[in-house]
Amino acid sequence: MEKLTGLKKIKTAVFISGVGSNLKNIIKFSKLKKSPISIDLVVSNTNLAKGLKYADQFKIKKKIFNSKNFIETEKIILILLRKEKIKFICLAGFMKILSKGFIKKFDGKIINIHPSLLPKYKGLNTHSRAIKNKDIFAGCTVHYVTEKLDSGKVVMQKKIKIAASDNSISLSKKILKQEHKLYPAAIMKIFN
Ligand code: GRF
Repeated sequence: MEKLTGLKKIKTAVFISGVGSNLKNIIKFSKLKKSPISIDLVVSNTNLAKGLKYADQFKIKKKIFNSKNFIETEKIILILLRKEKIKFICLAGFMKILSKGFIKKFDGKIINIHPSLLPKYKGLNTHSRAIKNKDIFAGCTVHYVTEKLDSGKVVMQKKIKIAASDNSISLSKKILKQEHKLYPAAIMKIFN
């Protein structure tokens, strides 16, 4: 990843679909002097995403897409990203799969956070799968987004022990806490 030269932060968009706790966390991080990125756009594929409130709260431009034709929607998003001079994208609980064409346009500039120790448990229901398999460890991963789901190069991972008393809800809470530390650390790692 290119080195940061001047004092300018890299204009970044965060894509969400849900609660947005990672979005909130990344926005807070982006306000720190040491942050290499600024959050300039929030994109959601649904107006039901609770996280959209953080765009309002922090006065960040937001764009909501409800279109069923996502390929067409992607074209509009790309135009918007260009207009806003967005150079980096963080997916944070974004539930749509981006097309090969879209990813190619932002090659090596899209990262995602996934609640498992990739390559284990790509896709959904990661916590219940880890518990069902009686895994000793679980965790989260920040990785580059490629056309293969949850398969791009790992930037950073955090591993935690699964307690005997854990269920998928308690485990997801524990891991989410770690996600909030990992995502900023991974962004720092990429740009430093
Ligand atoms: C997180 O667990 C993230 O790893 C996964 O979706 C969840 C999003 O949570 N991709 P939030 O919307 O950031 O609170």
